[in-house]
Amino acid sequence: MAVTRTFSIIKPDATRRNLTGAVTKMLEEAGLRVVASKRIQMSREQAEGFYAVHKERPFFNDLVDFMVSGPVVVQVLEGEDAVKRNRDVMGATNPENADAGTIRKEYAESIEANSVHGSDSEENAATEIAYFFDEDEIVG
Ligand code: PPS
Repeated sequence: MAVTRTFSIIKPDATRRNLTGAVTKMLEEAGLRVVASKRIQMSREQAEGFYAVHKERPFFNDLVDFMVSGPVVVQVLEGEDAVKRNRDVMGATNPENADAGTIRKEYAESIEANSVHGSDSEENAATEIAYFFDEDEIVG
């Protein structure tokens, strides 16, 4: 299986509760390697651009408000079949539906404050990585 990349965000509910290390440990234990990482305060403009695909959805403004409510950690993860591997360890969007042993089951507070974001395809991963990182910031 090929080594590929995905994009991850540790969301404000998790950074607020000092869970950056705990979440990253679960990602690493799932076979993912952090090859780029930075803690940032997203601007409203940045968050609106990142989530533009959801702009017609009823929760768009709440989602943007939440994502700018505190620092986030944006990361590039590398591993075999990284997109699927990451989504498997993240668990379902709504923590009520997340399987035991997943990050969202363990740590998410709600469908909004759900601790992590992960790209849903390799194509979106490439776009999302480029949104936050220059290639020379990624060290495999
Ligand atoms: S859903 O419910 O299956 O449609 O969810 P999804 O399409 O994966 O959700 C896309 C992102 O929107 C967030 N989300 C919400 N935010 C606030 N309020 C509500 N009700 C809500 N529902 C979904 C969800 O956490 C996804 O965020 P990312 O960062 O992409 O994981």
